[in-house]
Amino acid sequence: MNFQTEKLSPHMAAAVSGIDLNRLPDPSTRAALLDVLHGNLVLCIRGQKLAPVPFRNAMAQFGVPVRRLQLAHTPECIEVNIISSEDRDELGDGKKIVNGANWHTDDSFMREPCSLTMLYGVVVPSTGGDTQFTNMYEAYADLSPEVKARIDGLKVIHKYSSSRKLSRISTRPTEEMAAMPEATHPLVRTHPETGRKSLYLNPNRMEQVVGLDRAESDRLLDELIAHATQAKYEYRHVWRQGDIVIWDNRCTMHKANADYPEGERRLMHRVIVAGTAPV
Ligand code: SIN
Repeated sequence: MNFQTEKLSPHMAAAVSGIDLNRLPDPSTRAALLDVLHGNLVLCIRGQKLAPVPFRNAMAQFGVPVRRLQLAHTPECIEVNIISSEDRDELGDGKKIVNGANWHTDDSFMREPCSLTMLYGVVVPSTGGDTQFTNMYEAYADLSPEVKARIDGLKVIHKYSSSRKLSRISTRPTEEMAAMPEATHPLVRTHPETGRKSLYLNPNRMEQVVGLDRAESDRLLDELIAHATQAKYEYRHVWRQGDIVIWDNRCTMHKANADYPEGERRLMHRVIVAGTAPV
């Protein structure tokens, strides 16, 4: 398959067109798409029209889809989660909830967080509802040698319901919460495929830096978050209907925006694929 590639910002994100994922990509197309993703961190595949099972099957070309209980899923396919303007905290207060409204990387409360997330814009609002991304390779590279020396080797405890969380998160059944793992991850990780180092932060899930007292840990995490979320590291994706955006959770953070007009719908289908423990 031939496809056309367009850079979406000078420092990250590229879009490809000329592909219909109802036909699975051949091995060389798959490898070429992964190259675009690794070089740009965020890959948008334009103009798709995929039912849940073909969407899952297409994404399975880039990794092993994994099931997550924290989001609703389509009736057709349990590995295709739904993120929608109609999401509510069903088991809690029943109020509207915006999944991913603050900077985060997916799944960091897991010992082996997903490597890639694929979000498919099934219904996009007429305006707003962008997804923002930040480049964590660049954020790490720009740190001073003193800060790098201080944080290399530090580890952070991540939790589903961290006491530092910034967003409301959906209430989960007691048994599921009890079984929810707590994970300890390095603050600086090395990408298993590119070999590059990045900051590994998740403002919504990080609890405390191991070995630092609470105040010192909070100060360090707040400083690193403020550094990594500067506009200069950011790409903002303006959705077009039929976009599939694939991002690499190992070297980016992202956040959703619920700023679209009242009464308009936003419906995304999501697949995540398995990753390995960060090192
Ligand atoms: C997410 O955080 O995974 C969802 C992003 C979005 O809805 O834009």
